[in-house]
Amino acid sequence: MEKLGLVASGSKSAECYVIFEEEAELKHNIVEEDFVVIEDKRTKLKTLGIVRTGRGIDPTIKTGVYGVGTAYVSKGKGDLLSSNRKFFDAAVTVLGEIKDGSVVPNRKWITPGSWVFIPDANPFSYFVPTGDPIEIGHYKDRNDWRLKLNANMITRHVAIYGSTGSGKSHLVRVELIPEIVKKTKFSVLVFDYSGEDYAPYFDDIISVKDLAIDWETMVSKICEECRDFGYVGKGTDNAITNAVFIGVKRLYERGTKNFYQDLIAEVEAELQQSQKGAWLEGYLNKFHAYYEEVDPDELNELFGRSLTAEKIEQMLNEKKVVVVDLSSEEPESRVSAVLSILRYYIKQLKKNESGKGLKVLNRVLVIDEAPQFCPYGREFGAVAETTDAIATLSALGRKHSLGLVLLSQGIKGDAGINAAIRRNINTKFVGKLSPNDLSEVNNEILQSKIEDTMITNLLTGEFYVAGVMSPIGQAILIRGFASKEEKYGG
Ligand SMILES: Nc1ncnc2c1ncn2[C@@H]1O[C@H](COP(=O)(O)OP(=O)(O)O)[C@@H](O)[C@H]1O
Ligand SMILES: [Mg+2]
Repeated sequence: MEKLGLVASGSKSAECYVIFEEEAELKHNIVEEDFVVIEDKRTKLKTLGIVRTGRGIDPTIKTGVYGVGTAYVSKGKGDLLSSNRKFFDAAVTVLGEIKDGSVVPNRKWITPGSWVFIPDANPFSYFVPTGDPIEIGHYKDRNDWRLKLNANMITRHVAIYGSTGSGKSHLVRVELIPEIVKKTKFSVLVFDYSGEDYAPYFDDIISVKDLAIDWETMVSKICEECRDFGYVGKGTDNAITNAVFIGVKRLYERGTKNFYQDLIAEVEAELQQSQKGAWLEGYLNKFHAYYEEVDPDELNELFGRSLTAEKIEQMLNEKKVVVVDLSSEEPESRVSAVLSILRYYIKQLKKNESGKGLKVLNRVLVIDEAPQFCPYGREFGAVAETTDAIATLSALGRKHSLGLVLLSQGIKGDAGINAAIRRNINTKFVGKLSPNDLSEVNNEILQSKIEDTMITNLLTGEFYVAGVMSPIGQAILIRGFASKEEKYGG
């Protein structure tokens, strides 16, 4: 192994500083996120570490105090400054002790003065995950150094954060999904928000226009279009929305050729049963006034759609990947469509919960542009319902082998995702982020000593990975492969 430098004073078991031998860091082009091996000079233990923050130091050129260096600079003779007191050091995060070809937790304090080397083996090879391994990305420009992740932990959910263009969709399309398909028992259902990120690359595509919506979603949709029949606030907590609720449910149960027309009859009948006199009249008038704004053809077409979540679920038994192309509908309808499918899965999980044998789903749901469905801020209407649905799935999914993969531009704030959901996400990929999201990264997500500028300066396709899928207890930088942009099969 090539020698790099020496462990400085103040070393701990999980971190230390390294002082580089003269020009060693330049010669070997050592930068943040490079691996090092420390050979402890007392204990003889070898530990694997990662260079985090490097810096250059020269006590003769200091700011804030007047000294020799300052004098030279102020006389315009800075060139004459002796540089023999200059050195470079870096913080090193210790990943663990290298023992029998793998890395185990290190409990010994590293001895100051121990030598630090460049590893000559692939450092990722020391980390072997339990469970079915999948490989995502590679280490910097070493295409053959690949980190193995535990695919089974996908049921504890994955978030992929990064600003637009950081490479989130690409990472999922080109690497995560193909690895799941090739190496695991999971089938993947993808919600393709733009219709451009997944639909062109896989074989089994469903258009949102064919998706049936369930009766509850139909109620929400009608109430939303009728602006809750003039009631302020959300909910089915008034006579008219109650009647719509009951009417829609009945029509779903018995079926109809003219949903729009028959719903009028149902709602009228329901109101006549529950209300009297002037109240009844008022409710009827109000119902008609708002219901007139609904387009009959659109409602009938929606009701007539036949591709149910159940059928999609059956497809997933045979196909490993099914993509729902959401792009051909307005954003609100995309939310309704997704909601119907999420609700179906919640019902499946709840059925499983209530006994009768545990059905193992082995499904992964990929939700791209997740803030459209479960935003950080409080929402009303259908988006509030998708948020609740995703939260429920994130809480129950693990027990039934259902994993969520959420892609988001931000963590919290405008472009972020709901906090209750985030708490249930146990693996995170963090790509290039805007400064707004940085505090969140270091406090809650990576808990590693990664410089803010590392995250704001990440290249497209570069992500830190941390969490239960990773065999490494620290955030690790990986680089995604460029795509060949072929079909990925299904
Ligand atoms: N690892 C990579 N190597 C090369 N190009 C990439 C890589 N990851 C993403 N890209 C390209 O960068 C662009 C943005 O990627 P995309 O996945 O759409 O970003 P996001 O989903 O985060 O907005 C795309 O043109 C994509 O092909
Ligand atoms: Mg994208």
